Amino acid sequence: MALLSSLTRTLATLAVAGTVSAAHAQTLSPDLQARLQTCAACHGAGGQSVLPNIPSLAGQPRVFLENQLVVIREGLRDIPAMKGLLDGVSDADLTAMAGYFASTPVKPVPGAKDAARFARGQQVADGSRCASCHLPSYAGREQMPRLAGQREDYLLHSMRQFQRNQAVGRDTIMAASLYGIADEDVAAMAHYFAHLAP
Ligand code: HEC
Ligand code: HEC
Repeated sequence: MALLSSLTRTLATLAVAGTVSAAHAQTLSPDLQARLQTCAACHGAGGQSVLPNIPSLAGQPRVFLENQLVVIREGLRDIPAMKGLLDGVSDADLTAMAGYFASTPVKPVPGAKDAARFARGQQVADGSRCASCHLPSYAGREQMPRLAGQREDYLLHSMRQFQRNQAVGRDTIMAASLYGIADEDVAAMAHYFAHLAP
């Protein structure tokens, strides 16, 4: 009973502060909330990025986020901008952060959609069977990230890294999936995924 009432109090406090979604409020300590403010400086409020080449985290599958947070913390996926940021953060806190971003809704990307490039991107993605892993909606699942509604510049950047074997610490399956796809077709796919309804 005591635990339940203190939980209810915490939820009420958080709801007033309006910083986190109620669904995950019970798992986020004040310490973790402060940490999430740090993430927001780059990944945007609620994990909706407004900065070039920085991915949105909102609406990503929880497992994908958890895996990435572990490999980033361990320095296996080397992200200079995030160096040291996750040092000493517990697995439980990584799981809580992953859950927070996974449950945050994705907003459509701003900017105009070019019908011809969108159609070309769809054709290339269909022909390359990207949906067999990322799902036909491109919402992702398990360790496969969401592509729908992700920033176009980040999608292009990450696909180029995979193609050039510069994606250190990332799943090598992606270099194989993108093998032989021409530059302009990779760019068309980035445009297509970004403008797919999230
Ligand atoms: C100084 C800027 C910066 C801060 C602060 C930052 N990140 Fe990042 N993060 C990046 C960049 C840049 C990338 C993309 C790196 C790349 O692959 O080129 C990234 C990538 C990621 C990814 C991988 C996403 C994907 O789609 O592949 C996750 C997960 C992530 N960050 C989580 C976090 C969390 C959680 C925090 C807060 C604890 C945080 N980041 C703070 C810059 C930042
Ligand atoms: C066999 C399954 C599989 C197939 C097929 C596949 N992917 Fe992936 N994709 C993955 C996995 C797993 C990851 C996460 C990589 C990691 O762990 O770093 C990923 C990551 C990505 C990312 C990085 C997104 C981010 O947020 O960092 C992009 C972009 C991407 N895939 C695009 C594609 C495209 C385009 C195709 C088709 C040409 C494709 N994928 C086909 C499994 C697949």
